[in-house]
Amino acid sequence: MAATLRTTAVAAVLALLADQTTAAATAASKCPTRFAWENAQLTNATIANSDPSLFGFGSDVYSSKASRSPNLAAECKAMPGDASWPSQKTWTLFNSTLGGALIQTVPLAAPCYSNWPQYDAAACAYVLEHWNDPHMHVEDPTSAMFPLYQGRTCLPTEDPTASNCTLGGYAAYSVAATEVSHIQLALNFARNANLRLVVRNTGHDFGDKSVGAGALSVWTHKLKGIEFVADYNCGGRSGPAFKLGSGVVTEEVYAAAEKNGVTVVGGECRTVGIAGGYIAGGGHSPMAALVGMAADQVLSMEVVLPNGRFVTANEDSNPDLYWALRGGGGSTYGVVSSVTIRAYPKMPTTTMTYTYTTGPNVTADTFFAALGVYMSYFDTFTAAGAYGYFLVAGTGPGEYLFNMMPMWGANMTKPQFTSLVTPFLNDLASLGIAITPVITEYPTLYQAYNGTFPAEVVGGADNHAASRLFPKENFEPAKLADTLAAVRHAIEGGGLLIGYNIRAAPNAAVNQANSVNPAWRKATGFFILAATWPADATDAQIQQASETLTNDWMARWREVSPGAGSYMSEGDINEPDFQQSFYGEHYARLLALKKKYDPTGLFYAPTAVGSEDWYVTDQLEWIPTQNGRLCRKT
Ligand SMILES: Cc1cc2nc3c(=O)[nH]c(=O)nc-3n(C[C@H](O)[C@H](O)[C@H](O)COP(=O)(O)OP(=O)(O)OC[C@H]3O[C@@H](n4cnc5c(N)ncnc54)[C@H](O)[C@@H]3O)c2cc1C
Ligand SMILES: *[C@@H]1O[C@H](CO)[C@@H](O)[C@H](O)[C@H]1NC(C)=O
Ligand SMILES: *[C@@H]1O[C@H](CO)[C@@H](O)[C@H](O)[C@H]1NC(C)=O
Ligand SMILES: *[C@@H]1O[C@H](CO)[C@@H](O)[C@H](O)[C@H]1NC(C)=O
Ligand SMILES: *[C@@H]1O[C@H](CO)[C@@H](O)[C@H](O)[C@H]1NC(C)=O
Ligand SMILES: *[C@@H]1O[C@H](CO)[C@@H](O)[C@H](O)[C@H]1NC(C)=O
Ligand SMILES: *[C@@H]1O[C@H](CO)[C@@H](O)[C@H](O)[C@H]1NC(C)=O
Repeated sequence: MAATLRTTAVAAVLALLADQTTAAATAASKCPTRFAWENAQLTNATIANSDPSLFGFGSDVYSSKASRSPNLAAECKAMPGDASWPSQKTWTLFNSTLGGALIQTVPLAAPCYSNWPQYDAAACAYVLEHWNDPHMHVEDPTSAMFPLYQGRTCLPTEDPTASNCTLGGYAAYSVAATEVSHIQLALNFARNANLRLVVRNTGHDFGDKSVGAGALSVWTHKLKGIEFVADYNCGGRSGPAFKLGSGVVTEEVYAAAEKNGVTVVGGECRTVGIAGGYIAGGGHSPMAALVGMAADQVLSMEVVLPNGRFVTANEDSNPDLYWALRGGGGSTYGVVSSVTIRAYPKMPTTTMTYTYTTGPNVTADTFFAALGVYMSYFDTFTAAGAYGYFLVAGTGPGEYLFNMMPMWGANMTKPQFTSLVTPFLNDLASLGIAITPVITEYPTLYQAYNGTFPAEVVGGADNHAASRLFPKENFEPAKLADTLAAVRHAIEGGGLLIGYNIRAAPNAAVNQANSVNPAWRKATGFFILAATWPADATDAQIQQASETLTNDWMARWREVSPGAGSYMSEGDINEPDFQQSFYGEHYARLLALKKKYDPTGLFYAPTAVGSEDWYVTDQLEWIPTQNGRLCRKT
């Protein structure tokens, strides 16, 4: 007893000393400053020397539709060929005001088509060869990695007679922004000239939220700054942090973290843009079960608002915007130019990969029973900070494959990880499933990632995905069988499951009071389900497959998880009641903030907050594209 008291007293003194150390450190506050290219802002003089009616800022407040200029009240956004479309002279003026940053769109696959001056067999061969590699698309100003919703108007082809490549849903022009003034000019011009505006970073979005016919696109790819702040100490938060330009992609920030001996939160795809759609949509990662969502890690952001003004959003400045930009979706409240995110100390990471299939000793029933056994461990694994990324697919009639690609133990040594998974591996063995797991410990996240995660494949127009965030209850005994039956129904019907055993861990070190879909906070399973069809499928076949995905397979998933949601960044463009599914109970507040910050409706993307006020003309049911005219519902 006495010993305990003494230890407690010593601990109290130590804590007091620690507090004093913290207080002393707080005095030397260190907030990251803006990048040099963020200080290059649009000035009144630049506007005055050019054309204020085209490039001037928007009002801070628009009280009603009647007070808008005639252009802003227009029913549809302008399209090339319209009388209101800017003249060649105006585009030239815009380009010179931008210092030459304007790009007229040439589709990535134009070299394969004789109706484009870029027609070139060697260039076409390159595009064909790399079409499924996201790296090529990321370097292009306008390409979309899921061409279905662009309208499939310029897919690469080996047909030497092909001559029908058109822009389809691709933007008309892009601004290759290298400084904040470029973003401001683009937003002011699009708003004043009633142009459709899109924001494109990498083009990863499943629903093509970064393309739009006849649009002016802000291309953020070249906003590349990466600054490591070892001793961030700002607004009452301290620790290591990174300030990242919005063009920075996952593999770049992982490499920077490796170099600086820390760990950061990023996605599993090497080329997803961290500060763009990823953080805006919530952002899941192999670190989620340990430290929470990517949006939770944001300490501060810099953003150009729809009226053209450049502001900071964090706990102290524009806190409502800070809330909305962390989970409320991309292309809605402004263009983010940079984010500052928290980093964590370097940590050991252990990964495990394995596969098994149906076969002579493993019936389909046993195969799915094994999937159920894995699901019954979802809560145990995520509570320990682990994450699983796996695939389940049909390989022939009644034949199935399971691929763990990988399971990931952040901050776990191999012995720690092995003791976590041993009971599960024993359960698999007792079902008669013989696997040979490869368990490897790496000293850092980057090495684990580089050593384990497969490369991503994009560019196909032969599939489409939907997703569900299953709450923890779905994997508890009372609901497990029903959940498994709903999942099995989809896979037996031909669906491809890309599953995550994941949770958004609570984390006191960061601000989690943000607009991330509340369904993420309850989930331990995030399942993406894809429908596929032959490459030469007709529109009718694609419509049929999409309808089956949404109204049969996913309907069962929704029924077994009432009130849960879906992840907007890897979601179904046809998602019913998308407001509830993608945003949950945050939708009303997000919509009010949309009206506050974007009263003229400058920003639009399919399924984005406020998108229900708009429609795109000339649509086929189940295959919505961005290649019609964007109009306001009246
Ligand atoms: C192969 C693959 C793997 C993926 N892996 C993961 C993963 O591990 N975890 C995860 O959470 N998600 C993942 N995703 C989904 C990914 O998060 C989303 O597609 C995300 O929207 C990509 O953002 P982006 O900025 O790179 O792409 P884009 O398609 O260029 O942009 C997506 C949306 O954000 C908007 N936007 C982009 N930049 C800005 C900006 N600076 N300011 C305002 N709006 C902006 C765009 O207008 C668009 O609406 C993956 C997707 C693919 C295709
Ligand atoms: C720019 O002009 C606006 C009004 O047109 C004015 O409110 C603002 O102060 C000016 N800014 C500078 C830096 O002069
Ligand atoms: C914009 O100007 C630059 C530099 O003069 C030029 O290279 C580019 O082609 C121009 N863009 C358009 C769309 O004309
Ligand atoms: C272009 O032409 C080819 C061959 O005639 C045809 O298969 C394809 O569907 C056409 N594409 C579009 C977008 O019209
Ligand atoms: C199937 O089980 C039999 C009997 O236990 C065994 O001899 C055989 O090796 C097993 N086959 C496979 C593919 O595991
Ligand atoms: C990683 O593990 C160490 C040692 O157990 C612990 O102190 C640290 O808080 C953990 N890091 C995270 C981010 O959980
Ligand atoms: C990444 O993995 C490859 C092999 O897959 C290896 O050659 C390379 O050295 C690794 N890079 C790092 C930084 O670990």
